[in-house]
Amino acid sequence: MNRTRLYILSLILALVAEIACQSFPPEFQFGVATSSYQIEGAWNVSDKGESIWDHLLHIRPDIIADLSNGDVACDSYHLWKQDIDLIADMGLDFYRFSINWPRLLPTGFPNKVSEDGARYYGNLIDGLRARGIAPVVTLYHWELPQSLQDLGGWTNPLSVEWFADYARIVFTLFADRVDTWITINEPIFACESPYRGIVAPAIVSDVGALLCSKYIMLAHAAAYRVYDEEFKPQYGGQVSFAHHEFWFEPKTDKDQELTELARDYAFSRFSYPVYSTEGGWPPLLEAYMAEKSRIEGYTRSKLPAFTAEEIKLLKGTYDFFAINHYTSRTVRAALSGEEFGIFGIDGLDEIGAVLESKPEWGSALGWLKVNPEGIRHVLNRIKHQYGDLKVMITESGYSDDSDDLNDVGRIDYYKTYLEQVLLAINEDKVNVVGYTAWSLIDNFEWNSGYQSHFGLYAVDFSDPSRKRTAKASARYYESVARTKSLDVENLTAN
Ligand SMILES: *[C@@H]1O[C@H](CO)[C@@H](O)[C@H](O)[C@H]1NC(C)=O
Repeated sequence: MNRTRLYILSLILALVAEIACQSFPPEFQFGVATSSYQIEGAWNVSDKGESIWDHLLHIRPDIIADLSNGDVACDSYHLWKQDIDLIADMGLDFYRFSINWPRLLPTGFPNKVSEDGARYYGNLIDGLRARGIAPVVTLYHWELPQSLQDLGGWTNPLSVEWFADYARIVFTLFADRVDTWITINEPIFACESPYRGIVAPAIVSDVGALLCSKYIMLAHAAAYRVYDEEFKPQYGGQVSFAHHEFWFEPKTDKDQELTELARDYAFSRFSYPVYSTEGGWPPLLEAYMAEKSRIEGYTRSKLPAFTAEEIKLLKGTYDFFAINHYTSRTVRAALSGEEFGIFGIDGLDEIGAVLESKPEWGSALGWLKVNPEGIRHVLNRIKHQYGDLKVMITESGYSDDSDDLNDVGRIDYYKTYLEQVLLAINEDKVNVVGYTAWSLIDNFEWNSGYQSHFGLYAVDFSDPSRKRTAKASARYYESVARTKSLDVENLTAN
């Protein structure tokens, strides 16, 4: 071979290598997510029971920025066929949606299964499968039946068996057609913001937040065990809970220790009991909370202890690691008398930590600072903390308040975050098997109402038919999903 040929060959090889590192493994899965309260509407059809969100927003509309609620939302209860069309148009592998507990069980208990609720989710699941889209089903995306909240909700130890009973009914109805299950979505935001008065049921109690943390994790474990023992032998599906994790880094060198505690408090509180070899609460957090509770005059830790049996029940209740990741924060110690902003977003008052961002991080709407490297750090942290697990990214996405269909900020977010996911796969050998964009359509974004948009598709909320329109990001995500590569052109919406 002469020199020129060798040179050309090396150029081709370099190009192939370049394309290869822009490519995801052939079995990598791309999907999109929503949740029931945020899209379904039809809060009072048929025999549906009231959820804590229905209940709260009818008496306390003031907690939502635009005083809106999910009574109608995207009307996906009626328009689910259109939603399936959008997912199919993007050529996606799966759709992650959630079941509205009181839509299926109007009393919250298994004494009465709503035929209408069972039919709705059955149709959705069958409709997806007919289009080659795998349903990924979340059992709890924050819609507790109000009837159970009236009995103490997740602070009541009996909530563990209420959830297991509900899970068994869902599995009985759908395990023949659903392979991947998420029990609880983001335990941190199912327990902390609800017990800081920020979201439903909007109760203020630091004790409540920590009781909820214990029982919601045990509820996850109980549901996992129900599937594992009664359904897995026949159907062989996989179950996990969706863990939420920001990337935290110390603001300065002297904030290292506090950052470790902040990670334990906000994240490992929920992952350690399930994924660590020891089980139970993270030791650093457990010691901190015991001491703090003592100083505050409690006779026992506000973070309720697990029994040896409970530790065993929780440990290993996963078939894969499901992670929701959006953003990053720096951590520093609060100054004396410093006021805290929103829990988990601006600070962690229980441990005196202030959360901030760096000037070089980009910014989406509100709390969402854009730091692509953060997702790679978090994926590496999972691997270093818990070993070489199968990881599925079950949420990640970008918010804006714009009506511009050429949503370049969102495209840039997906491109740069997915580049970092590829680095985690190729360079760091983290076993990431899938990515889920939040969200399919603009929807009811909790405290921000309809002002904060996460959708790949816009929804016209002033139009009774809730018309959906593709944004440029829908076409971009489609190209990525279809080619399983980031080596695609940035397309525009029209
Ligand atoms: C359901 O709620 C809507 C408001 O979203 C209301 O207009 C309607 O009358 C209610 N329907 C029933 C049957 O209560």
